[in-house]
Amino acid sequence: MEIINRRQRMASVARKLRRDEDKTIGLVPTMGALHDGHLSLVREARRMCDVVVVSVFVNPAQFGPGEDFARYPRDLTKDTTRLADYNVEYIFAPAVEEIYPKNFATYVTVEGLSEQFEGASRPGHFRGVATVLTVLFNTVRPDFAFFGQKDAQQTLVVKRLVRDLAFDTEVVVLPTVREESGLALSSRNNYLSREEREAAVVLYRALQRAKETYREGERSARKIAEAVRAAVEAEPRARLDYVGVTDAETMEKIERAADDRPVLVAVAAFVGKTRLIDNVVIQPARERRATGALTG
Ligand SMILES: Nc1ncnc2c1ncn2[C@@H]1O[C@H](COP(=O)(O)OP(=O)(O)OP(=O)(O)O)[C@@H](O)[C@H]1O
Ligand SMILES: [Mg+2]
Repeated sequence: MEIINRRQRMASVARKLRRDEDKTIGLVPTMGALHDGHLSLVREARRMCDVVVVSVFVNPAQFGPGEDFARYPRDLTKDTTRLADYNVEYIFAPAVEEIYPKNFATYVTVEGLSEQFEGASRPGHFRGVATVLTVLFNTVRPDFAFFGQKDAQQTLVVKRLVRDLAFDTEVVVLPTVREESGLALSSRNNYLSREEREAAVVLYRALQRAKETYREGERSARKIAEAVRAAVEAEPRARLDYVGVTDAETMEKIERAADDRPVLVAVAAFVGKTRLIDNVVIQPARERRATGALTG
């Protein structure tokens, strides 16, 4: 395993693998503080690709002014140890100036999609995400790039970015890894006290409520959202930021869940001072799903 800090070095290593050795490259972009969610992406990358590159970069451009960039958990030594177990070939861990050199002035915006939900609560967030991924994709030129469903809106932003700007990379989205309690793994769970960690399960519980409400026959997006809101409000340590009930593929707001399209229920809430997100995709009736027309 090699830890690469320089963009030039990363680019030349990747170029050689591609050109001279005809290897397929998988990229797993992360901000480090790795947990089993990240490692599920690494495992799939390992399975699908000849060479695995994990980037570890806390990207300042995707943090807002009042956010936690400075205190975000960083532990490259521990991350390296965890990745060694998966025989990862390269860790790309650049300094900020390596990605954003002096006079950096070019940003990428995925319009529309970036402005609602996470984007509305965190202005500029997806511009930061799309920009850093553009730099990473152009540096590594991965055949496959791996992302977690926990960040549902991000997966849609990335897919749109890749399609619109014609990146020669296939986006692979993998399921959310959870604790036994249901709590989605997240590096920001590190901020939670023991009591808050228990309270944080309310996001998962609220999403289960949404699913049950749907299974009981409710199709009104407003009513499904209301069930989520009520569940979150029942937990005194939690404060709802938003709940979105949308089309799962476009993230467009809907009034009613259609019979033939999956619905995304996405939620963000503060538990204490920590902001957490989670989501669930509700699949329509099984007969329709079996056609495969709704996936991809
Ligand atoms: N529980 C999880 N299951 C599957 N994938 C995950 C999970 N948590 C994060 N990921 C994915 O890992 C990748 C890197 O995410 P990131 O480094 O921001 O970790 P994170 O846990 O989301 O941290 P934070 O919550 O602080 O943003 C993203 O594609 C993200 O969707
Ligand atoms: Mg994240």
